[in-house]
Amino acid sequence: MRATAEAHPNIALIKYWGKLDRPGNLPAVGSLSITLDTLRSRTVLEFDPGLDRDRVDVAGETEGRAAERVAACLRDFRDRSGWPHYARVESGGNFPLAAGLASSASGFAALVVAADAAAGTALPLADLTRLAGAASGSAARSLHGGFVRLEAPGDGREEIEIRQLAEPGDWPLEIVVAVTDAGAKPVGSTEAMRASAATSPYYERWVREQPADLDDAEAAVRDRDFGRLAELAEFNCLKMHALTLTSRPAVIYWKPATLACIHRVRQLRADGLAAFFTVDAGPQVKAVCLPHAADAVAGALAEVPGVREILRCGLGAGARVLERE
Ligand code: DP6
Repeated sequence: MRATAEAHPNIALIKYWGKLDRPGNLPAVGSLSITLDTLRSRTVLEFDPGLDRDRVDVAGETEGRAAERVAACLRDFRDRSGWPHYARVESGGNFPLAAGLASSASGFAALVVAADAAAGTALPLADLTRLAGAASGSAARSLHGGFVRLEAPGDGREEIEIRQLAEPGDWPLEIVVAVTDAGAKPVGSTEAMRASAATSPYYERWVREQPADLDDAEAAVRDRDFGRLAELAEFNCLKMHALTLTSRPAVIYWKPATLACIHRVRQLRADGLAAFFTVDAGPQVKAVCLPHAADAVAGALAEVPGVREILRCGLGAGARVLERE
């Protein structure tokens, strides 16, 4: 009744931003992401019939928001699977938590896979997808490796669905992460999304246009068309940030170094390097590159004033069980 699972964060090239107004943490829009390799979350989970509640340790914290979210996900797991026992959970990662590096995505993907393996419930992928997505919308995408598309409810779908578009090795992109501030973000994505939906004048248009961005990006992945993917991913990212900037009160995730990195990546592309930027709900900039461009991009971003650290990743695999007893 014990299992260890590992999952990698993913970054969205077409962003999830906005939730449906009903229970289950369902996204209002679909998204398209790439799963990374070197960054990871690892979860050790043991069900123990002797426990009277879940005991959770997230990167050394046994109380607070992160631990509560893990306990809520375990409750959801028990409701869905009928499994009766409480668990002892230890979860951690090799990168800064809550700083816009998608630690919740890899953390919850590893958690649901570990719970399923430890209980021996062998839930279908659709159930794991819903459990991970209910815990954190982006987490469902980390169940798969490579390029992943998530469909929001709608068009006759009641729940989310994920689909792998390509394996990591099918189109081996490299990602250079410029860390500009490793502290926790000032406003969590859940809260900021709600503010965008309620107050940004651009929100409805964002939701309406998202299917077209998703289809275009899927076609760019299918055709291995880097230039097209670059243009679309930057467009979609800036639209998402336009929502946070036009919320009341505004949420500004960027630091001066964030904007400096954005300009640097655009300049590098104009100079002929195959790279584009994307930024999530935090100040870090992720430059997605064709492999031959990655060293030059990493070197250039390391020189930008305010960049504290450069992390390098390739594309990685989906969540998996490392050990089961
Ligand atoms: C900007 O998945 O963290 O990274 O469902 O509220 O946990 P919750 O949100 P979360 O939001 C991710 C937002 C994003 C874009 C993306 O990953 O698609």
